[in-house]
Order: sequence, then C-alpha cells, then structure tokens
Amino acid sequence: MSHLFPTYARWEVEPDFAEGSIMTGKDGKKYLDFTSGIGVCNLGHRPEVVQTAITNQLNQFWHVSNLFTQEQQETAAKKLAAAAELDFVFFSNSGAEANEAAIKLARKATGRETIITFNQSFHGRTFATMAATGQDKVKQGFGPMLQTFMYANFNEIETLEQVMDEDIAAVMLEIVQGEGGIHPATQTFLNKVQKLCHQNGSLLIVDEIQTGIGRTGKAFAFQHYQLQPDIITCAKGLGSGMPIGAVVAKKELKDVFGPGSHGSTFGGNPIAIAAAIATMDTIFKESFLNEVQQKSEYIVNKLQELLGDVPEVKGIRHLGLMIGIEVKGNLPFLLKELRDQRLLTLPAGENVLRLLPPLTVSITEIDQAVATIAAAIKALSKTAV
Ligand SMILES: Cc1ncc(COP(=O)(O)O)c(C=O)c1O
Repeated sequence: MSHLFPTYARWEVEPDFAEGSIMTGKDGKKYLDFTSGIGVCNLGHRPEVVQTAITNQLNQFWHVSNLFTQEQQETAAKKLAAAAELDFVFFSNSGAEANEAAIKLARKATGRETIITFNQSFHGRTFATMAATGQDKVKQGFGPMLQTFMYANFNEIETLEQVMDEDIAAVMLEIVQGEGGIHPATQTFLNKVQKLCHQNGSLLIVDEIQTGIGRTGKAFAFQHYQLQPDIITCAKGLGSGMPIGAVVAKKELKDVFGPGSHGSTFGGNPIAIAAAIATMDTIFKESFLNEVQQKSEYIVNKLQELLGDVPEVKGIRHLGLMIGIEVKGNLPFLLKELRDQRLLTLPAGENVLRLLPPLTVSITEIDQAVATIAAAIKALSKTAV
C-alpha cells in the first residue's frame, strides 16, 4: 500500500536512470523523454555543466539562510534580470511561489486589489495562484476562493475591456497557455493588453514558468512580441531540476519589497542557485536559442507533413519547442500507446497531446518521435472515443 496521497494518477513507468533525452525504467526499458519533467529538464537529464556546478557547490556550503550576502545569488539575479530585460529578482522554490510573490508585489505597488487573469490559464496550486487559475477543475472542493481575481477570455480583447478599469492592480497572463492546451497569444491581443495596462496604470505580469528559460527559442516567450512586462515569473527550467523559481521586476518596484516585506527560508538555496547559473550560462546564448528555433521549425514541419491531413488531428499549435497536437479520440489511450512505443509525452487542456522535448534533443530523436506519434495518431480512429 502506498502512503503517498493519491494526488497524481501515476504512470506505470518507474525511472531508474536518466541521461540526455533518454530515461531508463527499472524494468530496463529505454524511453525517449518528450516530457522533460514537465518543462523542467530543458538541457536534458543530468546535463554535465549543471552537475559540475552543483557538485562544486555541494563541496562549499549547502544552506546558510538569506540573512547572509551570497555572491552566487547576486550573480544569478544579474544574469536573470539581464535576460528578462528587467532589474530586480526575488528567488522562490517553485512556480506557484513566484506567482504568489508577483501577486503580492502588484497589490502592494499599486494599492489596488484586483488582478485579471484568463480562462484556461494555469498559475499554480496555492490559495492565491489557484484562485488566479482560470480552470474550475483546479478549484473544486477548496472554496471559497480568494476574491482578488477577475477572469477574461484569452485572445479576446472585448472581455478584457469589459473588466479593465483604474481599480485593476495587474493583468497576469501566459504567453502560451501551457496546461490549458498550448494556446499561443496573438500579437494583436498582447498589443491591446499592453495598451490597456498603460491606460489604467495597471501592471503587466507575464507568467513565464512554462514558457521561459529558452523553451520557445527566446530566453522568455514575451520576447517574440513587442511586449514590456513590468513583472515576469519563472521556475521549471531555471534550475534544470533543482527546485527554484523567481519573480523578476522593473526597477520602479524595488522598494515595494523592502526588508521584512517578503521572504522564504529555502528561496535562493545555494545548490539551486548553482544549477540556475550553469543553466542560464548554457541557454541564454544566441547560438543555443537559434538552434531551438531551428529544431522547432523542423519538428513542426515534420508533424504538419505527416499529420496535417489526418482526420484525427484537429490542429497543431506551437511556439518554439512547446508543441500541442489537438486530437479527436481517446487521449489517455494515445499517451499509453506512445509509452508502450517507448515515447513519453504529456496531456494538456482538452484532448491536446503536449510535447516538451529537451531543448538539446537531436534531429534523430525528433525523427524517431515524430514517426512514433504519427503512427499512433493514425491508429486512433480504430479505438473507441
Ligand atoms: C504557467 C504555469 N504557472 C505556474 C505553474 C506552477 O508551478 P509549480 O508547479 O512549480 O508551482 C505552472 C506549472 O505547471 C505553470 O505551467
């Protein structure tokens, strides 16, 4: 009997070892991993540069508390702020905590209460971030919700205009709704969001927890658009698997988070920081990010070629290496079928097969995955819906 709460419907695969894009199960089976730990292992499993950085830090000190000045935290903050074109960083341990900090920052900075988020968004599982999330299934049984949030429809400016006014502290959005089913924002929508924020003196918070750290072929997804967020949040890929998150904000907000205003025992832990520095040094390079964009183009073209006309496919959406294939038919069956074919993939939203390959994935691995996916999707019509 398991003594873990059954919060996760776990798969039958039990990992024993993982390296690069490959995970080996305890039964000796080798899987091509297109989940990357749900967008965390952007450099593949156990990348050497990160392993070395962690090992070096393990031999120095593991934890001292945020009462001490830590040079490595300063280094990590400087790199992150530069990549995000912003100024000040607070380190947390997870994505939800980063969003929680962003929400607190926005409320305190503006003196306003309400934050607008979007239907089908996902921002986390804490009380504030669960309320921020625009999906009822996440909230069931936990009410009443924090009354801080109002919701608009993603990519539909009219519903935002209806709720936007000078009482709004912030608008918070994902550039690509990830858990919601891989829905990228349109340029027109984002332009309008930016304009409404400026007009009403509201802050723009971009949740880059799934889209950040090179996932879309830019350091952060907002950089594909002419967008100037006041605050961004990130986590997942930042530590290559070491738990770390961050809120990154413009310089005007610095004093809002003065001494004693916010904190975290483990936030900015030295091991996680070492992993984050090594990860950023590898990913935040033009050559690396260009390669991600090339691989994205390659895989999406291949998917279109093989699946574009297949009746079981309703659409293929993507930004960089964040890819969604909306299918007709039984998605859980498809995921299991792919696992049986030794390919690990994810679900998202309504019937969307989500691919989050490591950014270091090879062309051979892409070819192998695409062939497996195409065969499995074509076989879908033979299964009961
Ligand atoms: C966009 C987005 N925001 C927030 C979160 C929550 O992050 P965490 O699970 O690290 O708390 C997630 C996790 O999937 C996410 O995708």
